[in-house]
Amino acid sequence: SKGTYDHYMLKEIDEQPNVMRKISQNYIKNDGSLNVEQDLLDEIKKADRLYIVAAGTSYHAGLVGKNIFEAVSDVPVDVELGSEFGYHMPKLSKHPFFIFLSQSGETADSRQVLVKVNEMNLPSLTITNVPNSTLSREATFTMELLAGPEIAVASTKAYTAQIAVEAVLAKALGEDKNYPAAKDFDVKGELALAANGIQQIVDEKDKIKALTADFLTGQSDAFYIGRGIDYALSLEAALKLKEISYIHAEGFAAGELKHGTIALIEKDTPVIAYINDGVGASHTRGNIQEVEARGAHVLVIASQKYAQAGDQIIIPEIDELLSPIISVVPAQLIAYYASLARGNDVDRPRNLAKSVTVE
Ligand code: F6R
Repeated sequence: SKGTYDHYMLKEIDEQPNVMRKISQNYIKNDGSLNVEQDLLDEIKKADRLYIVAAGTSYHAGLVGKNIFEAVSDVPVDVELGSEFGYHMPKLSKHPFFIFLSQSGETADSRQVLVKVNEMNLPSLTITNVPNSTLSREATFTMELLAGPEIAVASTKAYTAQIAVEAVLAKALGEDKNYPAAKDFDVKGELALAANGIQQIVDEKDKIKALTADFLTGQSDAFYIGRGIDYALSLEAALKLKEISYIHAEGFAAGELKHGTIALIEKDTPVIAYINDGVGASHTRGNIQEVEARGAHVLVIASQKYAQAGDQIIIPEIDELLSPIISVVPAQLIAYYASLARGNDVDRPRNLAKSVTVE
């Protein structure tokens, strides 16, 4: 039930600190060792490339996961949209391993890929919130998201749970391979930081509501920009805004703006810039100046490490690889408040279904 909440979406946003703690308790034992099936690790270890297959928000969680697996478990990763990959399959690596990310476990676009993967006798893992779902039954292995039922059509806690479970698996795989970066990646500590960091952001709801009114009232377009991990995050932030506020929003690699899209920037165009990615931080600051010079109204969401005076939202400390877990929350809240201000049906946006069981 919604309890005291007006909408499931806000309730599910607020549940995210608890989801982080639940994932940590379930997957990390008291002695710090990980509760991940050895058979699964043995199988993934043989892979020369991971193929993450998903749709929508889950695809965006896969884009973040690619960064985590490559850094922590030393394996190349491709992230694929089920609707494209199934019918235009690229030449696969010699020893592929497939990871299906799906909140519902029922997405037809992802499932048709799994059917083909099974026909090819290739190993797979489904990471899902619904243990007995089709994708979970048909894959070789399953891991549970443990996010609890997600009712609102706009996915929130499943996205952050997917990143957290990917982090657990990446750590387990990296350690199993004795990859040094895996030892340095304190997944237990990071998930605790994630829980606390999300809590800090959800406690700033009133401020985020005011910023949303200031930046998005009367606007029909908005841009999210970032580099590296922040680019992956920008795609999800923009999707959230589109699907429930119906504001046309785009997520852009900050460096790509000047290759065309900057033509759309006019006086007061909202541009929301993410600065969690250390390598990209100074260049993104440059891109902020470029759009401001053309009149854009810029809202900066920066990790405390790279924050500057005037940045409106500060992201508490966390490993950069997991920063989207906290940084997505302001975007979830911005989408929520923008949708509410427009009088939309927040939990059931037009034209959308919670689980898309047709291709
Ligand atoms: C966006 C959203 C969708 C789903 C997508 C995949 O908020 O909910 O984009 O993420 O339809 O669904 P699952 O994860 O159930 O496969």
